[in-house]
Amino acid sequence: MYKKLFIPGPTHVRDEILQAQAAPMLGHRSKEYAALQAEVTPKLQQLLYTKQRVYLYTSSSTAVMEGSVRQASTKRVLNAICGAFSKRWHQITAANGVPCDKVEVPMGQATTPEQVDEALSKGGYDAITVVLNETSTGLTNPVKEIAALVREKYPDVLILVDAVSGRAGIKTEFDAWGLDVCLAGVQKCFALPPGLTICAVSDRARERALQVPNHGYYFSYEQMDKRYEKHQTPATPAVSLIQALNAQMDDVLAEGLENRWNRHQEMAAHVQDWARRYFALYSDEKYLSPTVTNVENTRGISVAELNEELGKRGAMISNGYGDLKEKCFRIAHMGDLTLDDLKWLTGQIEDILGL
Ligand SMILES: Cc1ncc(COP(=O)(O)O)c(C=O)c1O
Repeated sequence: MYKKLFIPGPTHVRDEILQAQAAPMLGHRSKEYAALQAEVTPKLQQLLYTKQRVYLYTSSSTAVMEGSVRQASTKRVLNAICGAFSKRWHQITAANGVPCDKVEVPMGQATTPEQVDEALSKGGYDAITVVLNETSTGLTNPVKEIAALVREKYPDVLILVDAVSGRAGIKTEFDAWGLDVCLAGVQKCFALPPGLTICAVSDRARERALQVPNHGYYFSYEQMDKRYEKHQTPATPAVSLIQALNAQMDDVLAEGLENRWNRHQEMAAHVQDWARRYFALYSDEKYLSPTVTNVENTRGISVAELNEELGKRGAMISNGYGDLKEKCFRIAHMGDLTLDDLKWLTGQIEDILGL
């Protein structure tokens, strides 16, 4: 039996979108492919509130985290950490030999502009990485406020944002906020199968990349730019996924962006209220995520067993991430899920647990 995915990626993919992947194949140097990329890119720019470049990378998001941090700095990078995925960007930065430091808060807390200010004021940095939505804790960082601080006080510092579990579910205004890199894979709020990462890059970041020696090849903006105006990618892209993305973007825009953001907020409010009633919320109430809720397992239930039972009823949720396994469980409310889906899910959990 198919289990509807209430996990924070990959998420439930609608049949129409699965079918869109089965359209006849196109050669990636054909004019039909160029027409496809030319059609989908402005839709993505609309979603991201940007007039700057949006690249399509055939890879998971971790790869683009690596590619972007390799092109961001000729000095030193500050990695803001508030959970497992923001920590991963610090590990990636260090693993690539890029000089870096971290500014870290305990799990469940958000990175604040004040912490970033204090860290950057030590000087010597020309880039910062920050996660929009920390999937391991179910928390959304105040990226708009962090970016405003950085743009005002540290104009040379590029702002790199991992929006993997937030993009297409949380309003993120790339140009107005003054972001430089904003990346997200399509297997979460885009509700597509995995394999593609969409990355907006500012003109400022593209210029910086040209100053960075040995900044790599596959993810190089310089390489991407050689093909960008021809509406192509340098290497063979995941054509089927881009066809599905094009179809999905029509539906996203037909729903209306403001409606989409509101639907995510409504689903989140339902799950948060439910969690407060029967369990507790793990993360700081002020920064709760619109796309995934991390529920503290205050009743000491077996999350694994709950998921087994849910599986028999056609649904799947996520255990706590890493050290939070069995101490928490996560319910994602992202992509094309609806409030009715979430009401059904919480009803099933109540029934299974006898709440
Ligand atoms: C916030 C965040 N960043 C990065 C990643 C890594 O994405 P991928 O597995 O597509 O490389 C994830 C995956 O869950 C994520 O949630």
